[in-house]
Amino acid sequence: MTRPNDPWIVAESLTKTYGNAVALRSLSFSIEAGSHWAVRGPSGSGKSTLLYLLGALDRPTSGRLTVGGQVLSHLDAEARASFRYHMVGFVFQEFHLLDDLTVEENVLLPFVGRPRDRRAHREQALWLLEDVGLADARRKPAGVLSGGEKQRVAVARALVNDPPLLLCDEPTGNLDQKTGAQVMDLLINLAEGDPPKTLVVVTHDPAVASRLSRQMHLRDGEIVQATP
Ligand SMILES: Nc1ncnc2c1ncn2[C@@H]1O[C@H](COP(=O)(O)OP(=O)(O)O)[C@@H](O)[C@H]1O
Ligand SMILES: [Mg+2]
Repeated sequence: MTRPNDPWIVAESLTKTYGNAVALRSLSFSIEAGSHWAVRGPSGSGKSTLLYLLGALDRPTSGRLTVGGQVLSHLDAEARASFRYHMVGFVFQEFHLLDDLTVEENVLLPFVGRPRDRRAHREQALWLLEDVGLADARRKPAGVLSGGEKQRVAVARALVNDPPLLLCDEPTGNLDQKTGAQVMDLLINLAEGDPPKTLVVVTHDPAVASRLSRQMHLRDGEIVQATP
């Protein structure tokens, strides 16, 4: 049972290298369950790499990373896939929707290849589409939507499994200021469920970062500043 204020993500000397390039240099930090973090820093500072490690899309080169009691650095590919399915929702800058599928089919993508309870999953997808204001668009192909609408579909898809961890890499990077602010409203509102979800948003937009109560600044793969 996790409670708010427990250290829920713990990184110890987390290092990631690509050949000779060092993307993350021995990071140690912890993140409380249900907290909201902005990860900031210049291009190439390691923000996306950190998010990929937190979401078990990639493995650290050395060090230890624990999320919700699971030691990710020790998991094999199959266990990482299972971790992602049960624990993580992802939102990316480029939306990553399948344009030829309908809005609803996109939201249901995380269930592909999983034992399905079709009716329950469709109900969950529809609730989320209502939350993001796109229930009426559910039968449209995703390709016809505006950028802001696409990102709202991506938010619904990220949450359809009800994961405790929401990881977003520049979620407003392709949106204008107003649309980006709306997407942030949704992310923050939806993260404030019961129990609250842990939200980590990579951004270089100060207006976006200011919406999140905790800040981590990276430079050259190191933490140069973090709120306590
Ligand atoms: N797949 C990769 N292969 C080689 N180098 C990479 C790869 N991904 C990231 N890097 C390098 O790691 C560093 C951090 O990259 P990244 O995490 O994408 O930074 P950010 O998201 O802050 O822009 C950069 O120097 C980048 O060139
Ligand atoms: Mg990046």
